[in-house]
Formats: sequence, structure tokens, C-alpha cells
Amino acid sequence: MSVKKTAYSCQNCGAIHFKWSGKCTDCGAWNSLVEEFAEGGGSHFTRLDDEKIIKNSSVKNSRIVDLVSLNGQVQDFPRIKTGINELDRVLGGGLVQGSVVLIGGDPGIGKSTLLLQTANSLAKNNNSIIYISGEESVDQVRLRAKRLDCDCESIKLASTTNVAEIIETVKNQKGNPVVIIDSIQTMFLDGLSSAPGTVSQVRASAGELTIFAKKHNITLLIVSHVTKDGQIAGPKVLEHMVDTVLYFEGEKDLHFRILRAIKNRFGAANEIGVFEMNEIGLSEVSNPSELFLASYDYKTSGTTVFAGIEGSRPILAEIQALVAPSFIPTPRRAVVGWDLNRLAMIIAVLNTRFGLNLFDKEVYLNIVGGLKIIETSADLAVACALISSARDIPLENSTIAVGEIGLSGEIRMVSNLEARFKEAHKLGFKNCIIPKANEKNKNFNNIIKTYPELNIQTISHIRDLNKFFKK
Ligand code: TYD
Ligand code: MG
Repeated sequence: MSVKKTAYSCQNCGAIHFKWSGKCTDCGAWNSLVEEFAEGGGSHFTRLDDEKIIKNSSVKNSRIVDLVSLNGQVQDFPRIKTGINELDRVLGGGLVQGSVVLIGGDPGIGKSTLLLQTANSLAKNNNSIIYISGEESVDQVRLRAKRLDCDCESIKLASTTNVAEIIETVKNQKGNPVVIIDSIQTMFLDGLSSAPGTVSQVRASAGELTIFAKKHNITLLIVSHVTKDGQIAGPKVLEHMVDTVLYFEGEKDLHFRILRAIKNRFGAANEIGVFEMNEIGLSEVSNPSELFLASYDYKTSGTTVFAGIEGSRPILAEIQALVAPSFIPTPRRAVVGWDLNRLAMIIAVLNTRFGLNLFDKEVYLNIVGGLKIIETSADLAVACALISSARDIPLENSTIAVGEIGLSGEIRMVSNLEARFKEAHKLGFKNCIIPKANEKNKNFNNIIKTYPELNIQTISHIRDLNKFFKK
């Protein structure tokens, strides 16, 4: 007789509990436990089954695994070029045959559009493609394909949500197709009676598909929605299972989108690809700096250009600050595209080490174009923008700033200076404010010699910024 094992899985953190309670004891979320059970002790509740595995395990019956030397012959991973350069770059040079790629993002950001265009581009290069849509009917996908001008006959399409059916279908196809699953939240496995989209269904479906793909050398692209309120019955519970995790980000009301590699077993993480969404789908943006600086006006106070590095690629971004008088006891601080805590730190350092008091002022900071900056080397550009706005003095024409600020006001060394200079030079910038600490680098003089047109000013402390903001 089959035994029904009941467990309650937290939809916020994925923890499994044996008893229901109003609050998850692991993450503290309220009302997040959902009853989920597997028939006959199915293999999907890892924690329940671990005990069983330990009890039944027998060291005697296990086979001896071959141990090999680290210095063995290796073959390069065969890669399939998608034909979309921005995507290929983020993947580290194309899709690795037999790898599993997860594409996460907010609903409506453009994941299905990107994947349909990718499928079309792959099919044009004679790759075999299967597109499984669990969200849209075949007609809906066809309609979208028409709008996007995807005319490849060879893309095979199906609308289903049953993982077993998908596996059976793909097994019967010749060759090693690229399979697109849109999206994992709609998929379900028969063995589990919880609804599609719950943590255990999402995890079990993705697990089953991944094992199948690895066994048959099939390349898998899985779409996963980031669900509301940061609930993670989505990409977060799957990140450890797959080879590559890409996030598609952007503000819905802005045109461009950023595809960012969070994890990549076959390439660099943090690499980004930039796309623009228009009436005929996504188009690639091969020079994003130009796009982000499109309406940069150096004559206005409160703006500074930061020469950043995203993955291996330099990107210039405009940082805007507004310092305004406040009429409330706790002045507002708001940030778009940067870290609010980091802004609080820069404001405090400016106050103590530079003598700029912003405590009774409202401070707004915006990275133009919806870009999100995580590099600490943006500190100096942020400080420049704040000083410029507070004093209402624009920074000298065509200047970029880069440097990390320490709590004592010192300006710390940054990496990849050459790539930053190259991009600044390419876009016609003339002045660079950089950390003095970088002079210690062995090849600093060579870099300077390579860009004689750039006027490079090194500073060691935040108070040195004074000379740039004098009337
Ligand atoms: P979609 O790919 O369906 O998003 P996701 O799969 O991530 O949920 O994209 C939907 C949005 O993209 C929708 O708001 C309309 C917009 N869009 C365009 O602007 N142009 C286009 O050519 C297409 C196909 C979509
Ligand atoms: Mg979609």
C-alpha cells in the first residue's frame, strides 16, 4: 500500500516542516506553509528521504569509484552559438552542449521574447529546437513569432505543462535538440499532488528535467519568473541545480533590458548583455555607454560620469544627485540603481571628512537608464555628484570619476583601470579623476602613456575634491 507522506513547504524559503504552523520557523514568514505530499515516499522530499537512505544504505554493496589524476586530458566544451552576440557573451561564448541554463526575471520583462528570438536564430543555423510553452497556447506563440518576424519552419512547438510528457516527447526526437521550457512555474510532475508553481513542484520538475537533459546531452533553457514580494518559489530555489543562471532585468517603462550572468559554470559571472525592447522585439545594444549617456548634459550640476566595469566590459554611466532643502524632521533619501546604505555612508564621510553637511537636506540619487551599479568604485563619482549638487557647481566638462571611498575619507585603489580609460577615451572624455593609490601599480605609467590625450588627476583623500568644485 502506498504511504502518503505529508509535509509543509514554506513558499518563502523552501524549508520543509512536518507540522503546519502559522509561521515558518526557518525564515519567519507568516502564512507561507503549504501542504505538499508525495505518494509512496517519492524521491522529491529530500529531507524526508535522507533518513531512509541512511537506514537502507549498505557500504558493502557499493561499487568502488575510479579516482583519477587532476592532470588528465580534457576536451573543450562544444558550444552552440546562438547568433545573438549579447547572449553569447553572457553565456561565455555560446550555449554549452548539454548544459542547463536558467533565465529568471520579472513577469513581462521579455523572457519569452528573448527565447523565441534565440530559438529563431538557432534554427536558422540548422540547430534542432523544441519550444515548450506552458503559459501560452500554440496560437499565441505563433502570433508572437509573426510579430517578431521569426519565420523558421524548423522550430518545433508544443503547449504542455506535464514534465513526463515533455521528457517522453524530447526522447523521441533525433539528435540533441535545444529545449526551451517556458516557464518552470507552470510545469508539474504527476507524483506530487501540490499545485504547479509551489516550491516542491518547481524544484522537482526542474530536477527531473535537468537529470534528463544531462543524461541525454540535451541543452535546456528554463524560464523562471521572479514572483511577487521576493517570494522564491522561482529562480532562487533552482540556482544550485543548473549550470548557468541568467537574470533579465530592467524597468518595465524603460526600453532597455540587461541580461546578467549570476552563476556560470562555463564562463565568467557578472557578465552583462544589453538589449533594447521595441515594437519588433529585442534588439542588441553593442555599445551601451552611448545609450546610457545619450542625454548627458555636463553643464548641469549634480551629475558625474562613472567609468564602471560590468563583467569584462567597461560601461560609462551617468550618476545624478539632487540635494534639496527638507521640511520634515527626517529628510528623505532615495536611491535608484545603487545601494541606499552605501549612500548613507558617503553622506556621513562627506560630513566628517569633507565638511559638507547634508543632514538637513533631502538626497536623491539616480543611475540614469535603469542600470544597477554594484561596484564600490562608484563611490567617488557619487561623492562628486553630491558635492556638485549641494554647491550647484557642475564638474568640469567631460570628466569621469572612479574610486572607492574609505571611512577615513581615503580614496582606494580600483581594478581594470586600462579598460575604464579605453572606454572613456572612446566616448571623447578628456578628464579622469582616479585614486592616487593606483600609481603604485606596476603598469600604471604604461597605461598613462597609452592615453596621452587624457588629463589624469590622482587624488588620495576626499578633501582633494575641493579643487574641482570652486567657483
Ligand atoms: P514577454 O516576453 O512576454 O515577457 P515574459 O515572458 O518575461 O513575461 O514580454 C512581454 C512584454 O514585452 C510586453 O509587455 C510587451 C513587450 N513587447 C514589446 O514591447 N515588443 C515586442 O515585440 C514584444 C513581443 C513584446
Ligand atoms: Mg513569458
